[in-house]
Amino acid sequence: MEPKVRSVFWENRQVMLIDQRLLPGQFVVTGFDTVEKVAAAIGEMVVRGAPAIGATGAYGMALAAYTSPATDRNSLLCDLRRAKTVLDAARPTAVNLSWATARMMELAEHTVAPTMDDLRSALLAEADAIADEDVAINRRLGFHGAALIADGANLLHHCNTGALATVDFGTALGVIYACAEQGKRIHVWVDETRPRLQGARLTAWELMRAGIPMHLIADNAAGHLMRTGQVDAVIFGADRVAANGDVANKIGTYKLAVVARENNIPVYAAVPASTIDLSLPDGDQIPIEERGAEEVTTIDGAVIAPAGVPVYNPAFDITPHRYLTAIITEEGVCYPPFDQSLRRAKAAAEARVQENRWQRGTVSEV
Ligand code: MRU
Repeated sequence: MEPKVRSVFWENRQVMLIDQRLLPGQFVVTGFDTVEKVAAAIGEMVVRGAPAIGATGAYGMALAAYTSPATDRNSLLCDLRRAKTVLDAARPTAVNLSWATARMMELAEHTVAPTMDDLRSALLAEADAIADEDVAINRRLGFHGAALIADGANLLHHCNTGALATVDFGTALGVIYACAEQGKRIHVWVDETRPRLQGARLTAWELMRAGIPMHLIADNAAGHLMRTGQVDAVIFGADRVAANGDVANKIGTYKLAVVARENNIPVYAAVPASTIDLSLPDGDQIPIEERGAEEVTTIDGAVIAPAGVPVYNPAFDITPHRYLTAIITEEGVCYPPFDQSLRRAKAAAEARVQENRWQRGTVSEV
């Protein structure tokens, strides 16, 4: 069995990533030593999943600090701003990326650091904190969510939201892991999640390693399972949640939520507060990434469509908040009206970040 490592970490001045494109066939960890290479790794989905992308962006900013030749603070800040632009452009929908790079930028601009070495170290410490916090957040989120799931439940899960999509443990899969840790006998229907097959390749791999009962299903089977009473709850993660609770997640999520409503099945989104974007009033403002045609016309490199076929490949969709029973966060379970409950969760999470910084002794200028 492959060693248990985080999906994202720092080693020898490199951002280390499990290459998720190669799973489940091969378990390979690769190092990236420039900001451009880190951005390309995010864009090409070496690493994917909103929280994992966020932590990668944070380490990308630390890398920018260490690779910058700057000898004064202003030049370093210029290089960091440039790096933030490059990293943020890598993928548009998951807000965790720009959230993490903004947090790194804010630290660089406000930290008291007597020397440039101190500033670089402070940036790396902040990236480590973002990664460590992500794991702790997921565990809290997981246990809040597990309280909603009954012993014996059949859960329908979309995409991959596990240890691979985060730094470790996972969001929606974190809820499932927490249920298992509590001894609940749950079973998971795993959507294959075309076109990139994150469910078949990654979620199935994670759940089998964890020994959690599951069946892989073709995406098109989900409606049949819901109508025939074989699903007790639908659970997924998200890449961005607007202020009113509308959720952007992997393409296909909206269809699941609508069919779940038709069949009176609860629908849960599980997200860290860093995925909540209060600057956007509703889901229509969330940028939806469009990806290459080859994701649809090929499976594992094998061509399955006529050469030259026109393709449209939106990678995410918006589920309007009225289809969600609750949004599970590390600060508790948010219920409608989401504009109020999400605001409370976000404020509590931000206060916790400040408290953690204070405990680590990170000093900010006023
Ligand atoms: O395109 P991906 O694989 O990065 O999309 C990921 C998802 O949609 C996840 O379900 C989402 O990021 C939730 S994360 C834990």
